[in-house]
Amino acid sequence: VKVHYHDFVIQETPMKRLCKTVNAITVNGQVPGPTLEVNNGDTLVVKVTNRAHYNITIHWHGVRQIRTGWADGPEFVTQCPIRPGGTYTYRFTIQGQEGTLWWHAHSSWLRATVYGALIIYPKQGTSYPFQKPKRQTPILLGEWWDANPVDVVREATQTGGAPNVSDAYTINGQPGDLYDCAAKDAAAIVPIATGDTHLLRVINAALNQELFFSVANHALTVVGADASYVKPFTASVIMLGPGQTTDVIISGDQAPSRYYMAASPYQSAQNAAFDNTTTTAILEYKAAACPAKKFTPPLPLMPAFNDTNSVTAFTSRFRSLEKARVPTEIDEDLFVTVGLGLDSCPPFYPPQMCQGPNGTRFTSSMNNVSFVLPSNFSLLQAHKQGIQGVFTTDFPATPPVQFDYTGNVSQALWQPVKGTKVYKLRFGSSVQVVLQGTSIVTGENHPIHLHGYDFYILAQGFGNFDPQTDTAKFNLVDPPLRNTVGVPVNGWSVIRFVADNPGVWIMHCHLDVHISWGLAMVFVVENGIGELESIEPPPADLPLCY
Ligand code: C2O
Repeated sequence: VKVHYHDFVIQETPMKRLCKTVNAITVNGQVPGPTLEVNNGDTLVVKVTNRAHYNITIHWHGVRQIRTGWADGPEFVTQCPIRPGGTYTYRFTIQGQEGTLWWHAHSSWLRATVYGALIIYPKQGTSYPFQKPKRQTPILLGEWWDANPVDVVREATQTGGAPNVSDAYTINGQPGDLYDCAAKDAAAIVPIATGDTHLLRVINAALNQELFFSVANHALTVVGADASYVKPFTASVIMLGPGQTTDVIISGDQAPSRYYMAASPYQSAQNAAFDNTTTTAILEYKAAACPAKKFTPPLPLMPAFNDTNSVTAFTSRFRSLEKARVPTEIDEDLFVTVGLGLDSCPPFYPPQMCQGPNGTRFTSSMNNVSFVLPSNFSLLQAHKQGIQGVFTTDFPATPPVQFDYTGNVSQALWQPVKGTKVYKLRFGSSVQVVLQGTSIVTGENHPIHLHGYDFYILAQGFGNFDPQTDTAKFNLVDPPLRNTVGVPVNGWSVIRFVADNPGVWIMHCHLDVHISWGLAMVFVVENGIGELESIEPPPADLPLCY
């Protein structure tokens, strides 16, 4: 087994974007942070040293962390934060996953600038299930904030109003050269040669925005998503929710020139009044015939921000390449609502702190529980050490009342309860979760991410999930295997997985504003019998809360 050692130093680094210099929180002074490259089967050892003034943790998004849940990273779930001056070494092995994942801070909104790519090449001695691409480049889609993201999240949670939107979208950390005041040479350049193939490992690292991505004049052949291969298909535009990755191959089959690649927003209630800004990078042919620098490259045609039809058509094309092992007998059948809600405003709050309707604050919930993180112990520590009073095990398997989830919902249902409620799973049980979007406050697309697992997406649809008719739509043959699924606006998605990884695993909306408002729940998966079905003991340097 090959072991890769890395040092991540969290620091505050002055960075210039959009004509302003901000003190960004970075890993090793870079945004995006370092790209990690491993083969399937390798081990990663990453020592994180916190030289910034903020608590932080790092999450390895999509890595299964089989029996190594202490290295997963969400703060107060699997560890307490690494305090300023502290260190923690994450150790884990990639088991069975190939393609593109990523890593990001899982603490407040620090992932705004603390993120990077994790590339997993095929297992030593094996190859891709497609012709080996000549070149490869990670394409990280992000958001840039002039303000400090810790202040932005404080505002969003305290006022419960819609948070400030970011000041720019970015590709590989750069807004690109179409923004006002963007430096003319600031767009990321992606090289290609005539006749070559180039694998773009596209990652949506944006905090709160689903994004379309396209390359002018070049077809995108989708070959993988969330580090699982898919049956190849060709698209001109792809859409990724925050947390999702998509591997696409482009061919150098156009006239040698420069072409824009671009990302633009797909709807989100926070960005209802979005501006039509586009972030760009440049695909540049390596050829003498390339036009002079002042030539304006063609832009790809981006869908409208509310083009749900094209999103539905795109997501319905994913099929797993490998033989799917979908559980057919279900031990745990959960129906979980996913949506917004309202919270009453504490009486002593000044009115400008409560920007929801009628002096309320926005909140969000799953099955009417708005998730609250503990602060004195991590959930995993409390679970393993039997510490009482940190969480309760009464997360409901179904919503407290049945209602028309996507219709006009009575105001009595708008106010969730708060709690640190988990759902316990026996080791090895087969789990189905129907994720049902609600139209409380507003209907919205939610990218739901489960830690510690990949799951099969059996079906997605609009309206209320109907077990009588919708189960007939389940794909049990070749459904895609992913770690983040979009729950469509006013619709539903059904996922299945086998609970074969003991530990404590958070499932949450990957729009950071929603997780801050409580759109999360936690599965506690018990140990099985024997050592290989049990979580490893905690590392000696695990950060504690006290
Ligand atoms: Cu990529 Cu819990 O997150």
